[in-house]
Amino acid sequence: MAGNYTLTIIKPDAFTGGKTGKILALLEAKGFVVRAARAMQLTKEQAGAFYEVHSARPFYGELVEFMTSGPCMPMLLQKENAVAALRDAIGATDPAEAAAGTVRQLYAESKGRNAIHASDSDENAAREARFFFAESDWVR
Ligand code: RTP
Ligand code: MG
Repeated sequence: MAGNYTLTIIKPDAFTGGKTGKILALLEAKGFVVRAARAMQLTKEQAGAFYEVHSARPFYGELVEFMTSGPCMPMLLQKENAVAALRDAIGATDPAEAAAGTVRQLYAESKGRNAIHASDSDENAAREARFFFAESDWVR
């Protein structure tokens, strides 16, 4: 899958705020194709494991709290050079610093409640895809 897939999550602020359709329309307009999707509410164990890389950071507890605060929507997306293309499309972590027309500039409330997750490398995209989906969940 390396190179052409990335994992995104419509986070609880955007999902419960009714922004999923708008975000998906923006991403589809940029050429991303949905290969797997589910709606779910993460447990503390799941959110903690997903963001384990940040476990020593001061914002970790707040991040896990937020990610478990409501339902979210993990999706596996396909596009050429998908990881870089999606990071470009979502914008900076802090929406105040996100470029015009990016998902976070348009739909995020704050650095903590920032609407969307995107994998940061091909290696993590593969790990995160396996975290949420079995190969049999993918459409090809
Ligand atoms: P994500 O993993 O969710 O796609 O976000 P990201 O790559 O843009 O940012 P990352 O550094 O991986 O941080 C993960 C999430 O933790 C929250 N955060 N809060 N208060 C803070 O200084 C701070 N820094 C990061 C954000 O919600 C960020 O999306
Ligand atoms: Mg990250």
